[in-house]
Amino acid sequence: SASAGVAAGDAKVNAKNNTKSLLGSNVWVFEISWEVARQIGGIHTVIKSKAAISTEELGDNYCLIGPLIESQTWSEIEVIEAEQKSNIQYALHCLRNSGYRVVVYGRWLIEGYPKVILMDISTAMKELEEFKKEIWDEANIGIPWNDTGAADAVVFGFMTALLLEKFCKDLPEDHSVVAQFHEWMAGVGLIVSRARKLKVATIFSTHATVLGRHLCASRVDFYNNISKFSLNKEAGDRNIYQRYCIERASAHVAHVFTTISDILSFEVEHLLAKKPDLVLPNGLNVKSDFVHEIQNRHSNAKQKLHNFVRGHFYGHFNFDLEKTLYFFSAGRNEFSNKGVDMFIESLARLNHRLKISNSDMTVVAFLIFPTECNNFNVESLRGQAVSMQLKEVVNQMQKDIGKRILDSSHCSNLFRGHVPDIDTLLTEKDIVQLKRCIMSAQRKTLPPICTHNVTNDVSDPILCALRSCRLFNDTSDRVKVIFHPEFLHSNNPLFGLDYEDFASGCHLGVFPSYYEPWGYTPAECTIMGVPSITTNLSGFGCFIQQHTTDPAAYGVYIVDRRYKSVEESIEQLTGYMMDFCQQTRRQRIIQRNRTERLSELLDWKHLSIVRNFISQCLFLTFHNTKHL
Ligand code: UDP
Ligand code: G6P
Ligand code: GLC
Repeated sequence: SASAGVAAGDAKVNAKNNTKSLLGSNVWVFEISWEVARQIGGIHTVIKSKAAISTEELGDNYCLIGPLIESQTWSEIEVIEAEQKSNIQYALHCLRNSGYRVVVYGRWLIEGYPKVILMDISTAMKELEEFKKEIWDEANIGIPWNDTGAADAVVFGFMTALLLEKFCKDLPEDHSVVAQFHEWMAGVGLIVSRARKLKVATIFSTHATVLGRHLCASRVDFYNNISKFSLNKEAGDRNIYQRYCIERASAHVAHVFTTISDILSFEVEHLLAKKPDLVLPNGLNVKSDFVHEIQNRHSNAKQKLHNFVRGHFYGHFNFDLEKTLYFFSAGRNEFSNKGVDMFIESLARLNHRLKISNSDMTVVAFLIFPTECNNFNVESLRGQAVSMQLKEVVNQMQKDIGKRILDSSHCSNLFRGHVPDIDTLLTEKDIVQLKRCIMSAQRKTLPPICTHNVTNDVSDPILCALRSCRLFNDTSDRVKVIFHPEFLHSNNPLFGLDYEDFASGCHLGVFPSYYEPWGYTPAECTIMGVPSITTNLSGFGCFIQQHTTDPAAYGVYIVDRRYKSVEESIEQLTGYMMDFCQQTRRQRIIQRNRTERLSELLDWKHLSIVRNFISQCLFLTFHNTKHL
């Protein structure tokens, strides 16, 4: 896109000055993930936000590897030629010669402008059976015919291993190659690299465990029983045994095993039976905005949310926008893991409390969770159209009235200007037109609780929970809800805001997750100066608890989901939201400034310098090799 191009233009200049690695030209670093130049969840945010610092510190010796997904990646990549006679050129040549036709070498059009290699796995799918045999012979992992996700991971893994193998060929003795593999989906490449004894220091970085995610989603009391699960059986029962095996093998054969938080380290010690060597908390690319910029950004984005709300609630718009607060939750759609269940229940209780306390505040709560759907629903689009039409009519009238005032002030039949007669400012035609607009802004049905047509409307967990809590956007409700089952982009016809701007226009992010190894969403709120609610089961929540004496004073509220019952946690969450509704505007402004002050803690630049991480991994590789 045009904006990506501009960003890349700036980045190019930086890249030119920084092509040298601070680790020395003989250390090569590859980072391998399923989310290079494509977004599924937070791993995309990890690599993308780290890219600037990665290229600053590792220069052109740094390269990302991912699968090529035709429909998603092309607009993100600028294709380049490999440097003549380089090892990369040789490796790409070998892959293409092996029949893997589409192997793209380029630069990702984001800040940092990192080099990427994207491989179309479909071109190697014909060799799946051979790959499966090798992974069975070497690691005793059998891939069932019906697990297409695991099959994709196997093919991608073999292609990655081949790429690394060819890259290492004829590399001088004093050169080191480091390959960091993210999550089980990239793990096969690591296992094959080890089995083929490549001269590569391998890092396995996990962001969650497959089994942990599934166990939590099935609502077991996970943390109190973590040492008691029969792992193979649990994985088998959930049809994820092979994925679990890939993950466990990757953690065990890697030279260095890392996680992103202490809570995930605790989990992997039990579920993967391996203590991680390092914890590298997830950072962000923090821009040092001035405090007033944060406030202005909030104010501007909030105006767009106001516009949306005026349209969405047409015919039932009986609340004061000056006394309206915007809450939101967002992320991959994992209903109970992300605590959406708890959020909705607490919203219902908040609604009740605001009503009985006769509060004049209104809360509009947005839920942004991608769900299978087919486009926006008519009612949501009509709301915006009605509001737009009214705005246009009024704008035109404003101009006409201005002209009439000007004309009468200039002259009249007495050759002297005069104040116009107020009753004549609106013509009959104006009045009719205005009345038509007002009439078309009436409606009997309540404003929709969802912006799209959800495919499984009747059984969708979010819609079911909203219905069973009777959150229907009734005029008497003090809490209104809007479920937007798609991630946000700036071309969104309802808000016209991308996710970042949307979040900065809101007042509070609410993320009461049960399973959340890190949780970028509250971290992103923090650097934008937006207060948020997280839990002591999220990596981010625990990290902030460790590094700040009073997180709430900095606008990070932590719900206790570890030592409290579900009922107590819901009450605590409701209490936090209710207290927030009682703050004055002045208090909210001050709190946004304080929240933003935590940014430094979350900046990649401060968290862990990339080159330190790689150096430590190289050191550990040397040390651990003796034991592997
Ligand atoms: N996100 C986004 N657009 C949206 C909503 C969320 O890009 O409309 C991003 C958000 O910025 C965050 C990521 O989705 O970086 C979710 O990551 P998180 O670590 O919170 O959860 P995960 O999905 O990895 O479990
Ligand atoms: C920012 C703006 C102020 C505005 C305030 C609204 O601080 O700079 O001009 O009054 O936001 O804050 P609120 O929390 O009510 O959205
Ligand atoms: C995983 C986790 C999430 C984390 C992200 C990035 O998807 O579920 O909590 O923030 O990875 O590390």
